[in-house]
Amino acid sequence: MNVLVLGSGGREHAISWKIAQSSQIDKLFIAPGNAGTAALGTNIDLSVDDFEGIRDFALENKIDFIMVGPEGPLVNGIADFFAADSSLSHITIIGPNKEAAQLEGSKDFSKAFMKKYNIPTAKYCTVTKDNLEEGYDFLDSQKAPYVLKADGLAAGKGVLILDDLNEAKAELKSMITDGKFGDASAKVVIEQFLDGVELSVFIVTDGQSFKILPEAKDYKRIGEGDTGLNTGGMGAISPVPFAKPGFMDKVLNQVIIPTIKGLKKEEIDYRGFIFFGLINVKNDPYVIEYNCRLGDPETEVVMPRLKSDILELFEGIGTQTLSERDVEFDERVATGVMMVSGGYPGSYEKEKNINGLNTVYESLVFHAGTKKDGPNTVTAGGRVLCVTSLHRKQEKALEKTYENLEKISFDKSYYRKDIGYDLAEVE
Ligand code: AMP
Ligand code: GLY
Repeated sequence: MNVLVLGSGGREHAISWKIAQSSQIDKLFIAPGNAGTAALGTNIDLSVDDFEGIRDFALENKIDFIMVGPEGPLVNGIADFFAADSSLSHITIIGPNKEAAQLEGSKDFSKAFMKKYNIPTAKYCTVTKDNLEEGYDFLDSQKAPYVLKADGLAAGKGVLILDDLNEAKAELKSMITDGKFGDASAKVVIEQFLDGVELSVFIVTDGQSFKILPEAKDYKRIGEGDTGLNTGGMGAISPVPFAKPGFMDKVLNQVIIPTIKGLKKEEIDYRGFIFFGLINVKNDPYVIEYNCRLGDPETEVVMPRLKSDILELFEGIGTQTLSERDVEFDERVATGVMMVSGGYPGSYEKEKNINGLNTVYESLVFHAGTKKDGPNTVTAGGRVLCVTSLHRKQEKALEKTYENLEKISFDKSYYRKDIGYDLAEVE
């Protein structure tokens, strides 16, 4: 099998690492990839949004599967682009079509879907320039803090959580009438604020059946103790100690099954991964968001726990035989901590030499913003790499991760030293 992975983050490195272990892999390509993926396959200088370029490359290189890492190409219809061309029908896109990707691409779409299928989620009101007054009234009916979400994709920045009612009203107006997040905020979803602990649950589906993957907890804030600005994610732990069987049964019966049934009822053909961003409110799961892809850094702890051959799952999606495939997990805890460039998520410097990568022992290093510069590996982004360790005990896995992080260095590097400790206390 020949596989092309689209993307360049830690998620794509972890997926490529898993694909490279398959007994069925012949050639692995990553577009555009990073210094980590270059060691597993061939990096291709192609943008994830260049559908024509991807098509030409896939045909020339006899690609069987295209695994789409980020949401952008899915929401923009890469699966539809391939489906429309009969010369590409032998290639399976791992990721949903444009209609199905709206679960992530439009907050209004996903909220209406959840409401229709009784999937637990925060109360909401969708506002455009035509019903601003209704939006103000909904805000008046809520207690602080106020949650405003741009309807469309906004590079993870389209959600505002505000304490002051008047500020929330002003921001609502600015999102809608001044295009604060461009076209993405011409429509805004206002939500009831839910108070609880978040976790990420993943499934893979072929449109008929589904398999649940290991769940994970992501640490989104830059600062220790979950303080400071939101980031793409500073670390992740899998499994999640509070996701006990009783809670996960509710996730299955109240969230996952109704989602799959709802998609079928709507005749939405979803083939790929679904990421349920959940919040645990007093031991009940609520959906904060759907994503049409895997999470980052969650994938850096989920892939190391997946024992089954990932190409088996891809084949299951391609031939709609997922129900016949096995999904087995490693029982051990995986802990991943991100090392980032100083200043991230604000401005930061790049092209810093990364030292100590070869000294890492008993842990995995998944590259994110890295590239090769001659013989050196240098930084090329805000989130630079993720060190993941496995151990039966979470504290031991964390110990290994932190020991190895100390061996890696670059100018102005930063990582959180408290990943997972809050969960250890819950145990
Ligand atoms: P989203 O892009 O919808 O995942 O929102 C980004 C982040 O905002 C989430 O990960 C939560 O931390 C927070 N958030 C979103 N919606 C709510 C809500 N209704 N109540 C509380 N926090 C929320
Ligand atoms: N870690 C959250 C995300 O991938 O959206």
